[in-house]
Amino acid sequence: MPAVQVPVRVIFGKDVMRERLGEEASAFGARSVLIVTDDTIVRQGFLEIAEDALRSAGIEMRVFDGVSPEPTLELAEDVAAFAREERCDVVVGLGGGSVLDMAKVAAAATTNPDQRASDFLGANKIANPSAKKILVPTTAGTGAEATPFALIVAAGKKKAIASPFNIADIAILDPTLTATMPPRVTASTGMDALSHAIEALMSKGANALTDAFAYEAIQKIAANIEEVFAHGENIDARLEMSIAAFLAGAAFGNAGVVIGHAIAHTIGTRYSQPHGISAALTIPYVIAFNISVPDVAAKMKRAAMEMGEDVSSLSDEDAAKKAIAHVQQMIERLELPENLGSIGVSEDDIPEIADAVLAEKGYLARNPREVNRENTIELIRNMLSGTPQ
Ligand SMILES: [Fe+2]
Repeated sequence: MPAVQVPVRVIFGKDVMRERLGEEASAFGARSVLIVTDDTIVRQGFLEIAEDALRSAGIEMRVFDGVSPEPTLELAEDVAAFAREERCDVVVGLGGGSVLDMAKVAAAATTNPDQRASDFLGANKIANPSAKKILVPTTAGTGAEATPFALIVAAGKKKAIASPFNIADIAILDPTLTATMPPRVTASTGMDALSHAIEALMSKGANALTDAFAYEAIQKIAANIEEVFAHGENIDARLEMSIAAFLAGAAFGNAGVVIGHAIAHTIGTRYSQPHGISAALTIPYVIAFNISVPDVAAKMKRAAMEMGEDVSSLSDEDAAKKAIAHVQQMIERLELPENLGSIGVSEDDIPEIADAVLAEKGYLARNPREVNRENTIELIRNMLSGTPQ
């Protein structure tokens, strides 16, 4: 039976963190809150805004501000130990996807003192429901505020903690927190959200609700990403991107992502690329890879329409090609890498990359076209030469 899980409550709008965080934490009966964040957020003054909001509601705080990008299992163990020690009533995650993922670990550790972070790895391994958590993203991309996943690098590979207990009780989408993101981060994280929406549509795990989330996300991203790239201070456009990233997170958090993310995780860790850069790069090639599946072509026709293309007189496959071309133009205008060569991949690396991608069995099982070594190598070769079709 199709089913979706999303945060119970989503609060969005300009300045909502300042205005609502204290009240929302109080509604959970919180007397103490653990804030998980990182040093960039501290420097930007966002931690102070959150602390003021909680303090004015009479709530005590503990802060873990040591989250780093692409968090490792060692970091997750540190976060878990800190949370077990402090035993706060509510966890607030304030930051990008890595921070929100570590907040999920902290909330799980708070109510599961007998488990280490490593015990959480895999599907449904968290024993007891997590402490209440409020997730406040400061990027518009990963959708971590909407998903049941926490991603951790263990032994050089990205692994997931997947549990319904990881879903936020409250997500707060405040565009004033994303307005200071530099253009390149704005572009790459926004395109990561686009990859979530497009891969969720293609996934064998898609259903009517995840499709609805994904189409709306695609429309908002296509309409706003170039504006926020050029004019970061446009709060209305920033809010549209925050809502889009949430919707794309709700889509892939339930439907899953496919071969694009198997490749993005592989090249991201091997060539030290931020996740958004590698995820964006895959999109045109992954649509082309799956275009022969009739249901995918039909969905990509609708995706092309959401991007503003007039495809009414075209066949599904020709319309899907318009979607590919549209995404390629977006990538070009956002000044993001368009092929694997530009991030340091060479022809000789292809077999090794293919083997690593083929080991990502969870993503590949959901891909609508059967994946084998031959077509994976062909796909990566196309990504190297910059020719999706
Ligand atoms: Fe992603």
